Order: sequence, then structure tokens, then C-alpha cells
Amino acid sequence: MSISEDSTAVTLTHQCGDTLKVLLYGATIISWVSGRERLFLSSKAALDGSKAVRGGIPLVFPVFGKSNAGPTKELPQHGFARTSTWRLLSHKADSESTQVKLELSNDLISQDAHKLWPYAFNLIDLKANSFVTSMEVQNKDKEPFDFNFLFHTYFAVNNISTVSVRGLNGAQYVDKKRDAANFEETEKDVKISNETDRVYKSPSGPTQIVDEDCTVDVQRDNLNDVVVWNPWENAAKNMGDFGPEDGWKKMLCIEAGSVSNWQNLGPGESWKGVQTVIRSML
Ligand code: BG6
Repeated sequence: MSISEDSTAVTLTHQCGDTLKVLLYGATIISWVSGRERLFLSSKAALDGSKAVRGGIPLVFPVFGKSNAGPTKELPQHGFARTSTWRLLSHKADSESTQVKLELSNDLISQDAHKLWPYAFNLIDLKANSFVTSMEVQNKDKEPFDFNFLFHTYFAVNNISTVSVRGLNGAQYVDKKRDAANFEETEKDVKISNETDRVYKSPSGPTQIVDEDCTVDVQRDNLNDVVVWNPWENAAKNMGDFGPEDGWKKMLCIEAGSVSNWQNLGPGESWKGVQTVIRSML
């Protein structure tokens, strides 16, 4: 059990040998080693704070995608949390878990932004074969505000063509690749066979990735939606920071969040959304 830090990152080690590395930039988890590396990180990802990390778990907040109305209209795609440098607030380790808490407070973001979205905390808790990420947003201001939130998790998979995604059956989804139209998922085992960008609304239970040698479960607490994204060959080629060229065969984003509706937070209120990721061998 240990925690080591330098000026840019914190590494958590569990007594079972699992490790998790978090950059202060974006509070982005860039590695989770549990048996093997379980997160995809682009070989061309910028890790120097010059742009959002392509891989790992960037945090999408306070807007998902681009907004065309309201105060979030001026913000870049997926908001500013993933491109702000967070502060390491506390850490602790015992025989069960190794924890670190990071804070994005109003002195770390632009003057304009902090009037509207003052405080956010990301608590990361590494356990044996699993980890928990808890995002808390507090409104310490006098005005209410609206936000979206998403853990944009890039999972490393053995082969995208053989992966199934379970737990989406029966959920309504918006397919961003088909005119953003609404559909209902009818498959128990969802296969990914082309560019996929879907927002599933309120799937009833956890989402499970079934890979060749393992399953990975993504449980959600107070996070209604699941985004499923894989850029496939052409869109991956068009991203300047995506590598290796065939890396899209080795990744799948299963993103737990609250994005299909705005969360409204009144003065003095706080909101928390929790993701638990568990891997099991087949
Ligand atoms: C996903 C969105 O969450 O993120 C996609 O659904 C988007 O539409 C993808 O392309 C990557 O976004 P970005 O800003 O990191 O390139």
C-alpha cells in the first residue's frame, strides 16, 4: 500500500499489486494496472497539460459535447475540468484501499467560469481488482447552475471485434451517428462493428464489457447515462492525438455520467455521482 507523488501525478499502489496513476492535469486517471493495463492511453496523448488527455479517464464537466445555449455555450467541447490543473487535497491508505482526493476550486479556473461552477471534487479509491471514482459538485454561490458530468473512460480491450457490451438491453439511446435519432436497444450482447457514438439513457443496471479473457463491470450511482464510443478507423485517423493508427481496435469508451438532462444545483446544494469499476477473470 503506498502513494507516491511528484509535481504532476499521483500513483496509488494496492497491497495486491494493482496500481492507478492520476495526473493533476484534469484529475485524469491515465493508468489502471490490475493484472495488465486496463485503460487505453493513446501513444500520441499529450501528457504535459497542453491539451485534454486522449485516453484514461478524462472528466467531462460542466458540459457534454458543445452546448448551443445558456452559460455553457462559451465553453470548449466537454467543458474545462479535463483541461484544468486540479489540487491534491488529501490521501490515505489502509489494508483495504488506497485513496486520493483532488479538488477543482475557483482559484484554479478562469474568473468567468468560477462564478458559475465553483467547486468540484474527485475522490479516487483503489481496491483489489477494482476502483471507485466519486465526483462531488458543490454550489457555494448565490445562484443556481446547470451542469453535465461524465467519466469518459477509455477501456483497453483485446480486440474490439470480439467484445460484447451487456446491460444496455431495453434502454433508449440517441445515436449521434444516425442524425441523433432515438432508438431502443434490443441486443443483450451489443457488438461494435463500426464508428459508434451513442448516449444510452438510464440503462437499468451496470454495464459489462465481456472481453476474451475477462469481464469489466461499470456500476453507476446517481449517474443515469452511459455513452458508448469507438471512433473506428476513419475518425481515429482524423484525430491528431490518436495512436497507434490501429489503436481503435484496442479500445472502447464506456462513459458513465449524467448528460441527457442538465443537473440543476441550487445555492448551498451539492451533487455526487459515483462510478465503480470491477474486473473479473473469465
Ligand atoms: C464522446 C462523445 O464522449 O467523446 C463523442 O460522445 C466525442 O461525440 C468523443 O467524439 C471524443 O471527444 P473529444 O473532445 O475528446 O475528441
